[in-house]
Amino acid sequence: DNHLVIMAGGVGSRFWPMSTADRPKQFIDVLGVGKTLIQLTNERFSSVIPPCNVWVVTNEKYVSVVQEQLPDIPVDHILSEPCRRNTAPCIAYVSWRIKKENPKANIVVSPSDHIVTNPEEFRRVVTNCLKFTAETDAIVTLGMKPTRPETGYGYIQADLSTASARNKEIFRVDQFREKPDLATAIQYTKQSNFFWNAGIFIWSASTIVNAFRIYQPGVARIFENIMDILGTADEQRVIDEVYPECDNISVDYAIMEKAEEIFVCPADFGWSDLGTWGSLLAQTPHDLYGNAIIGENIQLFDSKNCIIHTTEERKVVVQGLDGYIVAEKDDTLLICKLSEEQRIKQFSGE
Ligand code: GDD
Ligand code: MG
Repeated sequence: DNHLVIMAGGVGSRFWPMSTADRPKQFIDVLGVGKTLIQLTNERFSSVIPPCNVWVVTNEKYVSVVQEQLPDIPVDHILSEPCRRNTAPCIAYVSWRIKKENPKANIVVSPSDHIVTNPEEFRRVVTNCLKFTAETDAIVTLGMKPTRPETGYGYIQADLSTASARNKEIFRVDQFREKPDLATAIQYTKQSNFFWNAGIFIWSASTIVNAFRIYQPGVARIFENIMDILGTADEQRVIDEVYPECDNISVDYAIMEKAEEIFVCPADFGWSDLGTWGSLLAQTPHDLYGNAIIGENIQLFDSKNCIIHTTEERKVVVQGLDGYIVAEKDDTLLICKLSEEQRIKQFSGE
């Protein structure tokens, strides 16, 4: 039985002011296509996983927006976190819950804020990986070819020898390294056996639960202790009580950097993490001067390589800017150099 877990509890603070703690980017139509990022994520899997097997883990603040935006998934599959503890506790919670109902479940975990330009290839790759994890105790990652020494991603060093191949597309991983420093990322990017971690994981429920028991025993114990109430009317009350006790750590540091049996499926399906304004600029149609204009009533003069985004009615006129973000929403206006965009997290105060 294949299940989809969508992680949707992040704040997306580098996308401020479009993305705010009240409505993070995954619940916004960032691309201007009439669908939000979480809706696009769910749709991407819809022919692989039926809606009755889709789960969303999110902060309690966003449960109602998930219900609105994904009306086809069962209401009791929207798991509510009382506080932010990053992705390891999020994955542990849903994995124990799924495993209780279905010990043989096979799971694909996905972020809610990525784009994929070749969904057919994406589905083919995910289907192949799900077949593989249904038969083995493997943790499978999807490896993207690095195009720059990005320090915001995890890196996967693959053993590409045929001896390590378990499936003709799936190879053993020598090392997983989350968010290396720039010097290390430059080294990795030069070598052909290094991949970016797409942040999408495939494993069986029992494999990931066992990995937590070994590598995150504290978190494992918390869910082990409340196993009986998972799926009952008391679940929320008990989760609200114990969830804050979980370590605040991402699955990449908690499990991926430590686990032994990790595999990677190198793939190319037009993946992009819409993490920052610059990544949106790269994914949006440009004018002749490299500007991306999103919103009504925007006029640009003598400007290049800018991203201008507005959700307001008022007219926005920009003259003479090169390489800037101009973004406004509600009562906030941001004007920031694209090259300084990593600082937006600080500016947002969120
Ligand atoms: N439910 C829940 N709770 N979801 C969360 C939480 C949380 O506390 N924190 C983050 N998420 C969700 C985000 O909404 C996003 O969809 C996903 O989990 C990944 O979190 P990010 O915060 O975006 O992670 P990252 O981008 O820094 O790094 C991850 O993704 C990269 C690729 O985009 C890592 O897996 C990297 O290794 C990877 O390269
Ligand atoms: Mg991300």
